[in-house]
Amino acid sequence: MLPSWKPQYSVNHSELDAQHQELFRLALNVYTLSPQRATKENIRGLLKNFYMYMQKHFNEEEAYMKEIGYEGLEEHCAYHADIIESMNGILQQSHSFLQMQASMRKIVRVWLVEHILVHDMQYEAWRKVKRRETAKTKPLLDEEISPL
Ligand SMILES: [Fe+2]
Repeated sequence: MLPSWKPQYSVNHSELDAQHQELFRLALNVYTLSPQRATKENIRGLLKNFYMYMQKHFNEEEAYMKEIGYEGLEEHCAYHADIIESMNGILQQSHSFLQMQASMRKIVRVWLVEHILVHDMQYEAWRKVKRRETAKTKPLLDEEISPL
């Protein structure tokens, strides 16, 4: 079973956290879709929704990482590109319901979950370290510009 989003997965950015929660929810839909009650078109539709939402999320996340000057931006964008490419592959090929679901489950587990829980945590950890460093150097800068 898929893990669910927990507060400790927060990247302390309300919009990105909300998007991560939505991605977990969309992933669960694909993960738990029953072959007895759904058609191949149903799963394709869910995959498309998931794919489109993921693209929007990656764009916003990349803009945020750029904004904070994240040093791992390039590597992180490459992870995003890999996930998009894998998803594209599934959507392009005409798999059976079970094949599509199996590939999607793999992507969801290995890519999405691991990506959010490992790689996304890294840019937030980096931001926290930077913030602490900035807080340490700030008083020095204030002293430098003091008229005394
Ligand atoms: Fe990411």
